[in-house]
Amino acid sequence: MLTYGNYGGRFVPETLIPALDELEHGWREALADPSFAAEIDHLGRTYAGRPTPLTRTSRFATAERRPLHLKREDLLHTGAHKLNNALGQAVLARRLGKHRIVAETGAGQHGVATATVCAKFGLECVVYMGSEDMRRQRPNVERMHLLGAEVRPVEFGTRTLKEATSEAIRDWITNVETTHYLIGSAVGPHPYPEIVRELQSVIGGEAREQFLATEGRLPDVVVACVGGGSNAIGIFSAFVDDPDVRLLGVEAADAASLGTGRAAVLHGARSSVLADEDGQILDAHSISAGLDYPGVGPEHAWLRDSGRAEYVRATDREALGAFRELTRLEGIIPALEPAHALARARELEDDYVLVCLSGRGDKDLEEVLAQS
Ligand SMILES: Cc1ncc(COP(=O)(O)O)c(C=O)c1O
Repeated sequence: MLTYGNYGGRFVPETLIPALDELEHGWREALADPSFAAEIDHLGRTYAGRPTPLTRTSRFATAERRPLHLKREDLLHTGAHKLNNALGQAVLARRLGKHRIVAETGAGQHGVATATVCAKFGLECVVYMGSEDMRRQRPNVERMHLLGAEVRPVEFGTRTLKEATSEAIRDWITNVETTHYLIGSAVGPHPYPEIVRELQSVIGGEAREQFLATEGRLPDVVVACVGGGSNAIGIFSAFVDDPDVRLLGVEAADAASLGTGRAAVLHGARSSVLADEDGQILDAHSISAGLDYPGVGPEHAWLRDSGRAEYVRATDREALGAFRELTRLEGIIPALEPAHALARARELEDDYVLVCLSGRGDKDLEEVLAQS
């Protein structure tokens, strides 16, 4: 059964079906149990730093010289939105009685968030990471080690997020009795895209309330970068039923699964994927490890086809330009991933622009300095 129009579903080996059924059952039970939402809310407020602020820029502006509103997920504990999902799934894993966590990571932010929650809850943690990503996101590898996680390098293919995800799934298949796969984006087989969207919807819920409180109206357009699509779906979810609010996703130009992909299966779900005519997956490229992935969450493919959301692209160069400008004009160093969203957002002619600033740029300093 496909879950989002022609997309989603479960394309996995038979051995994983009982685990996905168990996960879905546990998830439905958790959603129906008010103590689950209360625990997540409490952890958000007392541990993670929620609500994150909404910042109106003073010098970084749109084409019409209007300020932008930035939802500051860079100020969340561990430095990116990924912690919202990791905390929620760790609470869920505990409810399911799983004591071992496996995860994949690209930029390392999801790996750090996972290692963090495993340290907090005393769970064993194994993170798969492509060796190319280990090179370009070294500070995050060191953070994961300090937090007590085992980081397993993945040496095949492009040695980036795609291969790391395949390895994490392989580990999960082998150890499914004891292990929860803590997936890092709104991708993967059902019910993962739904779980991740729900856990990230806190971004949109807060931003909507904050925008109404400061501007007395909704934004004209909501902009977010799209790798697997979790920060974008998290912020879009609060505005999807407001037909006057445009939703704009920004992909990396050479990893544009929605812009240039075709319907195919990757990592357990049918979505829009960079693939050839036979469904063979093609390599992606982006300067930002978190966007360097040839697939995307199935809900985005559905939102694209229905016309509810639009997806555009930004190049490495454009992202670097926006990275430098936000840093110099606002005193905020963004991660390279949301720098893609900033690059397109600053060209808009709308009056009220809300951007998801999904993470901070400390992890990217070496990569950015190497380009200058
Ligand atoms: C700061 C930041 N933003 C965005 C992303 C892209 O992921 P997603 O599309 O799931 O939000 C990543 C991925 O690592 C990230 O670290």
